[in-house]
Amino acid sequence: MEPIADPAQETIRIDSHLSGARERSLAEDVLDGLTRPFKELPPKHFYDTRGAELFDRICELEEYYQTRTERAILAASAGEIAKLSGAAELVELGSGTAAKTRVLLDALHETGTLRRYVPLDVTEQLVRECAHELTQRYPGLQVHGVIGDFERHLDRVPPPDGRRLVVFLGGTIGNFTPGSRRRFLRQVRSLLGPEDHLLMGVDLVKDPDVLRAAYDDSEGVTAEFNRNVLHVLNRELDADFDPRDFEHVALFDAQHQWIEMRLRARREHTVQVRALSLAVRFAQGEDMRTEISAKFTQARLRADLSAAELELVGWLTDPRELFAVSLSRPLAGEPGQVSLTP
Ligand code: AVJ
Repeated sequence: MEPIADPAQETIRIDSHLSGARERSLAEDVLDGLTRPFKELPPKHFYDTRGAELFDRICELEEYYQTRTERAILAASAGEIAKLSGAAELVELGSGTAAKTRVLLDALHETGTLRRYVPLDVTEQLVRECAHELTQRYPGLQVHGVIGDFERHLDRVPPPDGRRLVVFLGGTIGNFTPGSRRRFLRQVRSLLGPEDHLLMGVDLVKDPDVLRAAYDDSEGVTAEFNRNVLHVLNRELDADFDPRDFEHVALFDAQHQWIEMRLRARREHTVQVRALSLAVRFAQGEDMRTEISAKFTQARLRADLSAAELELVGWLTDPRELFAVSLSRPLAGEPGQVSLTP
């Protein structure tokens, strides 16, 4: 029998760059982070299946205003963003389920400019599902998925196909420390031509009580999300963390203007990470930092953007100014060019 041609097949292409790389990066991060004088784990390891589910629950919490606020801002301004960018191609860093992206794709589709969607995410399953769904929803749309880590695989984004809009939503830019944030923005800048734009969600500086509540909710979902990283280490690296030995801590660092999540050892004890032949001693009350989530003012973002040779051209926010979606573009002139005139 003739194989039945899947019409979607020609419009979907998926490149994977992760064979074993994720496991390696976890082992390296744990070896490096848990042997430091101030223990630390990067937040990207929160997101196994259970972690992604818990994060979805966080997004529904009353205290966690970010997701619904960003979605409302996008819904209100998608048409304007589509017109301003005139994008033929939407490149999404950390696309996940692309839940908030649909409103942008809708607007670009309506404007008639949209040709291609390039989702980049570490979770292959999500990229595949979303590619199939979106090619059904937008006839003629090409999807070129890239399975990779936006911190390491930006160079795998395919060459541009018309005017490009790079989107980085959710406030995830806040997970970077200031120096790596600028380095990352410079890498993003290299994906952009003179006519292209970057659309980025940032959480704004506000009353510390509101911020703390968003990271220490009354139902304890965030606490469970935080401790979930210990289950990841137990499973992936044959470690013997007992999550009950750690207390969830969310604090606002006023000097740096960021939220920190930590896991605080309730008693003195030693954990074995067998896959790394590593014994890790925790003193009673010792903290391990699991996430920073930087909060922005427009001035702070402008400074970061200009350090990456980008300029702010749009600032969309909600009436309470809880969250902002920024639109920026490359500064005129060749990238890397240093002006000698004052
Ligand atoms: C996905 C990084 C934007 O920092 O608010 C939510 C992750 N951590 N609750 C954030 C998170 C705790 C979230 N980002």
